[in-house]
Amino acid sequence: MKQTRKKLWGGRFSTTTADSVEAFTASIAVDSRLYRHDIMGSIAHAKMLGKQRIIPLRDAQKIVRGLLAIEREIDRGKFEFSPADEDIHMNIERRLTEKIGRAGGKLHTARSRNDQVALDMRLYLRDEVAEILRLLGTLQQELAKAAKKHLDVIMPGYTHLQRAQPVLLSHHLLAYYDMFERDRERYAGCLARINVLPLGSGAIAGTTFPIDRLYVAKLLGFPRISKNSIDAVSDRDFLLEFLSVSSILFVHLSRFADELVLWSSQEFAFVELPDGYCTGSSMMPQKKNPDVPELIRGKTGRVFGHLLGLLTIMKGLPLAYNRDLQEDKVPLFDGADTVKASVKIMAEIVRGLKVRRERMLAAARDGFMNATDLADYLVERDMPFRQAHEVSGKIVQRCIGLGKRIEELSLAELRVFSNKIEKDIYNYLSPASVVGRRRALGGTSKSNVVRRLKELGV
Ligand code: ARG
Repeated sequence: MKQTRKKLWGGRFSTTTADSVEAFTASIAVDSRLYRHDIMGSIAHAKMLGKQRIIPLRDAQKIVRGLLAIEREIDRGKFEFSPADEDIHMNIERRLTEKIGRAGGKLHTARSRNDQVALDMRLYLRDEVAEILRLLGTLQQELAKAAKKHLDVIMPGYTHLQRAQPVLLSHHLLAYYDMFERDRERYAGCLARINVLPLGSGAIAGTTFPIDRLYVAKLLGFPRISKNSIDAVSDRDFLLEFLSVSSILFVHLSRFADELVLWSSQEFAFVELPDGYCTGSSMMPQKKNPDVPELIRGKTGRVFGHLLGLLTIMKGLPLAYNRDLQEDKVPLFDGADTVKASVKIMAEIVRGLKVRRERMLAAARDGFMNATDLADYLVERDMPFRQAHEVSGKIVQRCIGLGKRIEELSLAELRVFSNKIEKDIYNYLSPASVVGRRRALGGTSKSNVVRRLKELGV
């Protein structure tokens, strides 16, 4: 067996780790991307150790300088990560001692990798959530701008994917704005629980050294510190919450993506996706495929999978730290990467979306979507709604037989069903007036959409 490097924790072992075990347990390939946050946390810890005179101030200063130099090495790709050192924490600590000598061995005083990794994950995720909040804001701005640009465009609103009532495209787009607003609220809510300092909990029970956790919290910008060391090292709720919130976001993204796929099909032909965001087929020369929305829809499976994966890792895990927890990295990293990439590209798609207003309007004219309004018209002329519903239904039935729209029947033909119908019915049933009458708050009338856009500052 190849002689592996002596471990930083190797004191009580008489033989070296088996190669297979080393390969199996190492996480450096995955967690090396925590290096900036790991170093940031270690610098705060070292400063605190110095301030509290737990280690000499001079050693603390040496450690800080050494860590900053290591950060530069990694930034420049000059650092050699080694699986023999398992993870990012020990890779950095090993290098620190190489660089500054015995003072490097003092960094880990009053600390365990258990509270260290919990800290790194929180620092990392805090930045990711801030970035996601920003990207979601951009997507919302693009939706609002598109709504403003296409303010008057009328399209069929669907229920059961059957034409239901005409709506403004702008109203439909702003529905997504509101979904993403709730997603942002959820991320902001979860940020408050991510933003808690776990460092100082040691391996499980806390530490005997006179550390100053509030000082570390202040250095790292944590408004709160954890109150129970056992909980602090074993809790991954903040990751579960992040993945839950991200899953809900992906419910929204995938619904939107699916509509873009449908709408860009030749059957709908409501929109055209920008050329730069579509791909062709290697076989069929005529194809322009909506791969980006398809992939967003497909990536939903990954994010849901990561949530379920982590839930499964956490379920039934005895307190406190268990190595199982190392498996939280892939769900977090891949989950956050997937969210960021998808939100970003969705915003670009919205920005470049071409709307075929004549196709949408034509579709909105078909399908008897003004039948509710015909009933409302009769109600306004004192017919009970139930009876008006019946009359309108009969008229639709007649139209289906004749292959005509309601407004294509003559007044005489309409009056066979009710003599309350007058010639003002034709204007009443036009898509624009059907939409325009939905002025009750939250409805699709242009006046409502204009007010909403004003509220949003667009
Ligand atoms: N790489 C480990 C992880 O990600 C760090 C903590 C290791 N702690 C331990 N007791 N082995 O969870």
